[in-house]
Amino acid sequence: MTEIKEIALENLDTNEFIEKKVAEISSVVGSGSAVNALSGGVDSATVTMLAHKALGKRLRSLFIDTGLMRQDEPQTIVAWFEKLGITVELIDARDQFFAALKGKTDPEEKREAITETFYRDVFGRLVREIGATHLFQGTNYTDIEETVAGIKRQHNILEQIGIDPLKSYGYSVIEPLIELRKPAIRNIAKAVGLPEEIYARPPFPGPALAARVIGEVTPERVETARQATRIVEDSLSATGAFQYLAILHEDRVTGVRDGKRDFGLQIEIRCWDSEDAKTGSPTRLPYPILEKIAEEITARVTGVVSVTYNITKKPPSTIEAI
Ligand code: XMP
Repeated sequence: MTEIKEIALENLDTNEFIEKKVAEISSVVGSGSAVNALSGGVDSATVTMLAHKALGKRLRSLFIDTGLMRQDEPQTIVAWFEKLGITVELIDARDQFFAALKGKTDPEEKREAITETFYRDVFGRLVREIGATHLFQGTNYTDIEETVAGIKRQHNILEQIGIDPLKSYGYSVIEPLIELRKPAIRNIAKAVGLPEEIYARPPFPGPALAARVIGEVTPERVETARQATRIVEDSLSATGAFQYLAILHEDRVTGVRDGKRDFGLQIEIRCWDSEDAKTGSPTRLPYPILEKIAEEITARVTGVVSVTYNITKKPPSTIEAI
């Protein structure tokens, strides 16, 4: 296994890094062509810019609609990149992901199903059809570290858990940001010309809302998490917190609505202060904000009768629930 060394923020020479990566990409891909897995997060957006600089039209950027994304996310990403002169093709893979997740409740099994659907089924076919040799993705140093430490299997980690993508899926993977953590990636993102709405985006996990649905991931349960996420993001984006999210619990609790028993759903809110997601503390949110979120979620998200705020640090918590 190739050993990966972190480039710490204070040792990062942004321009030198960009030049080096662009040259490396050109030399590795050679006269071939590549496919780029864009998720809309800072990491994959930065990779898109680096790979586009190196390969121009020989790069096909694809956004996979897994059905697990936030509201309006696929269309927003396509429009953002259109403005940057990069065409992003939207691939509808919703049925494949929900079929792979059906009946699964164990977090690591759900993560494995997402990895396999992504790399074997969806990209395996697309890369073959396009006739590309390489796939780009925005894996970062924290992803590697968490997987190797056995904390959780990050959806985009292959080599470190014994998967050889060339043998298993038929293409090689290029991960230009693998030595960097989030703050360093944001610096590169800014330097390659991404707008603030992208380089300052809070992190969002590769498994998307599936990382926030405890228990089985069905289209209906994802929709509940999606609606709660929208309310949480609208309510907390002005706080400047590192990351904020809504989690749908598996257990129901007894509530009361219009004088009648309502055995309903529970949503847990998390809002994190963190530098690089390695450790984190819950933000000390003002109580009125929390109360307003609880009122909005219980009023607008069908079936929810309980909203809680998590006050646990990472460790022992992790940022996402799954
Ligand atoms: P955890 O939940 O492990 O999250 O404390 C640490 C950071 O990583 C994000 N995250 C992921 N990112 N693929 C990703 O690209 C994944 O499988 C994944 N799981 C978690 C999470 O949102 C947080 O910023």
